[in-house]
Amino acid sequence: DVYRASTYAPVNIAVIKYWGKRDSKLNLPSNASLSVTLSQDDLRTHTTASCSKDVAEDSLTLNNAFQDISGARTQACLRELRALRQEMEEKDSSLPKLSAMKLKIVSENNFPTAAGLASSAAGFAALVRAIANLYQLPVSPTDLSRIARQGSGSACRSVLGGYVAWQKGEHADGSDSVAYEVSPASHWPDMRAIILVASAEKKDVSSTAGMQQTVASSVLFQHRADEVVPKRMKAMEKAIHNRDFESFAVLTMKDSNNFHACCLDTQPPIFYMNDTSKAAIRMCEAINSTQPNEKPICAYTFDAGPNAVVYYLAEHEDLVAGTFKAIVGDKTGWEGKRGQNIKVKSDVPEGTQAAVDLLKSGVSRVILTSVGDGPRKTEEH
Ligand code: DP6
Repeated sequence: DVYRASTYAPVNIAVIKYWGKRDSKLNLPSNASLSVTLSQDDLRTHTTASCSKDVAEDSLTLNNAFQDISGARTQACLRELRALRQEMEEKDSSLPKLSAMKLKIVSENNFPTAAGLASSAAGFAALVRAIANLYQLPVSPTDLSRIARQGSGSACRSVLGGYVAWQKGEHADGSDSVAYEVSPASHWPDMRAIILVASAEKKDVSSTAGMQQTVASSVLFQHRADEVVPKRMKAMEKAIHNRDFESFAVLTMKDSNNFHACCLDTQPPIFYMNDTSKAAIRMCEAINSTQPNEKPICAYTFDAGPNAVVYYLAEHEDLVAGTFKAIVGDKTGWEGKRGQNIKVKSDVPEGTQAAVDLLKSGVSRVILTSVGDGPRKTEEH
């Protein structure tokens, strides 16, 4: 017999960033973080996990290429999931002994892995969800987040949809360092995101290595972890509960900048943003300054790379996405069903010519998406 289960898992982009570990084996963070889960209609990892007596060894392919799964992170996920299944089998001897069989895991991203998008988050979330489905584990998303976290920290937030927080936790074993739902996507469904891909190259310094260097050398970092983020987490949860975009936007931009300031304060300094990234910031600031009282209608954020993610509400699609469409026009990504509906804005904010030129030459691809739900089961194999 062959046993099989499939799932999709979404990408998430943090608005309060995870950066720094207090335990690098278990991926326990130095501070809490909060993210928006993006729609799986646009960006997703699809994973099928199967097992049978005939499978000779555990394997994982991503977009048809074999991946090394001997690393501690993947092994930790497989070990935990198997242990839970084994517990079930010991209690109920009628269950097939799946925990004793080898696993064949087949994953595909519907976006270029090299695009510098948070592929490890969706990847580990899909892996953990698919195996939990295969084993029919009676686990909650929060239980799963504890396992996915060990694959990649940010992956623990991709097991849930909508607005998701990852609490720091206090215990040394990581049992309370888990993700929880702040609000479902349906609470604030008109959140949109435009991703400006500024480089499809592999990142300079991986997040894992970068955050270790920051923890070891930045004096700003301790202040961020102890003082800045705890306050911001509370304020961000409140902004989301109240659907208060202005507060959401200010906190998002400030936190991205605070995180990148810690990167600059690292020895040697780490630069994730490039000139195109800075032009995206300039353009967002200019768009916001056209509003009455300069009330923000868009918010940029950057992970460990130069791509800009700009959040805005559906009601401002033509103003925000329309401005970027007017600038970077016919790039890949606009053809999608969302892209076609965006009206090109006839003018761009004044005094932004330098930013316009940089965005024109530096943005290679545009992806339009929105807040979305957590992992969903699929029938396809
Ligand atoms: C900047 O989750 O990739 O995207 O736990 O070492 O796998 P590891 O790191 P990872 O770090 C993500 C960092 C970030 C911020 C965020 O997603 O919160």
